[in-house]
Amino acid sequence: MSDGPDAIPAGDLPLSAQAPGKCIVFGEHAVVHGGPELLFAIDLATQVIVRRAPRSSLNGDPEAAGEHPYFRALLRQAWAGPADLEVRAISRIPRGAGLGSSAALCAALSCAVSARGGGVPRADLAQRSFEVEKAAQGVGSPGDTSAAVAGGFLTVNAARTGLALWEVHDGAARWEVRRLPDPGWVWVVAHSGVPRSTGDAVRAVGSRLRAADGPALLAEFRRVAEEGIDAVEAGDRAAVGRLMRRNHELLREVGVSHPRLEELLRAAEPLSEGAKLTGAGAGGSIVALPRPGSETELVRRLARAGALPFVVRPATAGASLVAPP
Ligand code: PMV
Repeated sequence: MSDGPDAIPAGDLPLSAQAPGKCIVFGEHAVVHGGPELLFAIDLATQVIVRRAPRSSLNGDPEAAGEHPYFRALLRQAWAGPADLEVRAISRIPRGAGLGSSAALCAALSCAVSARGGGVPRADLAQRSFEVEKAAQGVGSPGDTSAAVAGGFLTVNAARTGLALWEVHDGAARWEVRRLPDPGWVWVVAHSGVPRSTGDAVRAVGSRLRAADGPALLAEFRRVAEEGIDAVEAGDRAAVGRLMRRNHELLREVGVSHPRLEELLRAAEPLSEGAKLTGAGAGGSIVALPRPGSETELVRRLARAGALPFVVRPATAGASLVAPP
């Protein structure tokens, strides 16, 4: 059932697959409510190795097949086939950091399992990976899983520009995913180390947006993301930085900043065009667009401020099979 040059081919177990994490530049949270988003796959990945086994297990733990939310959600999908999978997962993406570690795991697992099932067009892999993540998290948008499946620079719900890749649906809700050219910039991400739950943050923002000023806030999220996408396409770093700062103000307004994130943003300010929280917030990470040549100094400043900072570059490759072990 795989077709097209970019499909995931059929394969026999054992299989290994990998998928990248992601960094959201504009529009997190609003995207769950239909707003536009801009994000890119990062050059940190999760790899899974999947073997047939008498009893399912994750990293040697048979209980995890029933308890780990994402693995359990995968095994419940009709397309996943028999639940006789021994899975090893290795990730370079910090967990719970807003950098898409769960989306990368869902995409890598769905990729390997779909190959075992006869292969799958990439658009269907994006749908499947989202269904696994959504079943585990209960809420959310397909932005993160689409970045893990597609790689590169993507927009969601921004039909004005870019190359259409696919639509992901969830009941009546639909998200259109498009590819943009990578502007070729280097970004700095810093993990605060403050743990948080994506599901809780998404639900809290959902309630906040039901307040009387919710529609006006969503309209402002939309304006900022649309202008941000235009600024990235125009290569206008100063405008991108200004709009990142405005996007962060909106995220603070809907309650998902954190005192540690505010400290890190203050530390980043002198060396950045702009910076903001990235991902669900309430902890997790910030992303900064460093002034040219100040990447290393920015990383040092953020480390001195107590964060785990690293330079990230967009990853061109999305989810893919890798040579089996
Ligand atoms: O923090 P993360 O990596 O789980 O990203 C969440 C992004 C949200 O927009 C807040 C939710 C979503 O599913 O789009």
